[in-house]
Amino acid sequence: MKKYLPKIGLFGLGTVGQGLLNIIQKSSLPFEISAIVDRSFQKKQDLIGKIPASSDPGLILDNQEIDIIVEVIGGVDLPLFIIREALDKKKNVVTANKFLLAQHGYALFSKARENGVKIGFEASVAGAIPIIRNLENIFWYEQIPLLEGILNGTTNYILTCMRTEKKDYPEALADAQRLGLAEADPALDINGTDAAHKLALLASLISKKWIDYNNIYVRGIGNLRINDISWTEKMGYRVKQISRYHLHDGKMFLSVEPSIIRPGHYLWDVEFENNAIVFQGAYSGNHMFVGKGAGSYPTAYSVLSDIMHIIQGNYNPYIANDCQWHYDYPSPIDDNENAFYIRLPVRDEPGVLAQITAILSENHISIASVHQDAPLETTDNPVDIIIVTHKCYRKSIHNILNLLEKSKVLQGEAVFLAMDEN
Ligand SMILES: NC(=O)c1ccc[n+]([C@@H]2O[C@H](COP(=O)([O-])OP(=O)(O)OC[C@H]3O[C@@H](n4cnc5c(N)ncnc54)[C@H](OP(=O)(O)O)[C@@H]3O)[C@@H](O)[C@H]2O)c1
Repeated sequence: MKKYLPKIGLFGLGTVGQGLLNIIQKSSLPFEISAIVDRSFQKKQDLIGKIPASSDPGLILDNQEIDIIVEVIGGVDLPLFIIREALDKKKNVVTANKFLLAQHGYALFSKARENGVKIGFEASVAGAIPIIRNLENIFWYEQIPLLEGILNGTTNYILTCMRTEKKDYPEALADAQRLGLAEADPALDINGTDAAHKLALLASLISKKWIDYNNIYVRGIGNLRINDISWTEKMGYRVKQISRYHLHDGKMFLSVEPSIIRPGHYLWDVEFENNAIVFQGAYSGNHMFVGKGAGSYPTAYSVLSDIMHIIQGNYNPYIANDCQWHYDYPSPIDDNENAFYIRLPVRDEPGVLAQITAILSENHISIASVHQDAPLETTDNPVDIIIVTHKCYRKSIHNILNLLEKSKVLQGEAVFLAMDEN
């Protein structure tokens, strides 16, 4: 008698879908791809071969024999429809779609639990890095007061390229696009939203409450200039776009923002498009995961491992099974203290520095150091004044930047970076 093989329906034959199909075709795995849905399936017949294919989601959703659907289409509306339908029909789901889960995960995980099926989403956070299943299983009983990550390869590539190749932001972004590391529209990467989607999923796993990504404090890297990278480098720091979960005095702080770190920081050597996640376990100590956060095969491998876990029945997703979701809300980050780097493009004339230091002092900001590298002759061009502060409240930084803007001292956009002390 022929052995029963679980049946998979694959939605999306793009970067991740093709990687998955290639791995499956090269391996001997205990399941079969029974159908593929892709809007341009006709152009991909060479890859698809004899597998039934269509652009109609019904090919998979109406097939009662399909046990698991894999969604690697991307976007929100169609995947939401597909996954809802699949869960209603008691099909397990594997997805790489952080955007969808960050927006609709609360409802989708609840539906999966009600219907006794699973949602595997290892690939949705940091590609090949096995962080989801580790948090869901091994570290489920751990107390995690701090997690930090580089969760977006595009921004990490750009920041590394600015530092190592001395390119300004637009050139570094163009390089990332040319290398296929940034989308044609990179807005969600650059403005920090993509990382916030991922951080919300990680924070939900750690806190066992549902965190809405809209409540995360997010700043992108779009206003950083080569001056910021070179000034911080001269001071012995590196700039990294850090996603951060921090539990302090019973309050939860969540942020995604460009930050400066010192040598010895866990994320110091995480360069180019690599991703990394570090976290502190109260009992188990510090942990660090580094690897490929994206790419066809790395992401497809995580999808494959979710499929295998579901098939083997040892998938243990508390998130979909046991966890009764309640919403939780991070505390305002303005209540947090940090040291800050501030770059102020100002008029090159007497009295400007005195005005700035007066505003800082009125707002109880103590200066650790001041730097300027202006030409000896006065110039009409703005010159940068760099200030590093001692620890102060973030709301004071926002305050002084507003005041400086009103005072007309600024000749361009001020940039501030929080110092990450961990
Ligand atoms: N790429 C990565 O490295 C990576 C890493 C982590 C997570 N992810 C996530 O994985 C998912 C897939 O990403 P990807 O990079 O593989 O995307 P992609 O290369 O754009 O592939 C998407 C595939 O879905 C097809 N498709 C799009 N809209 C469709 C529709 N309405 N109906 C049917 N098929 C449709 C596309 O067809 P066309 O060929 O006609 O466009 C394409 O084949 C996304 O959620 C993404 O965030 C990707």
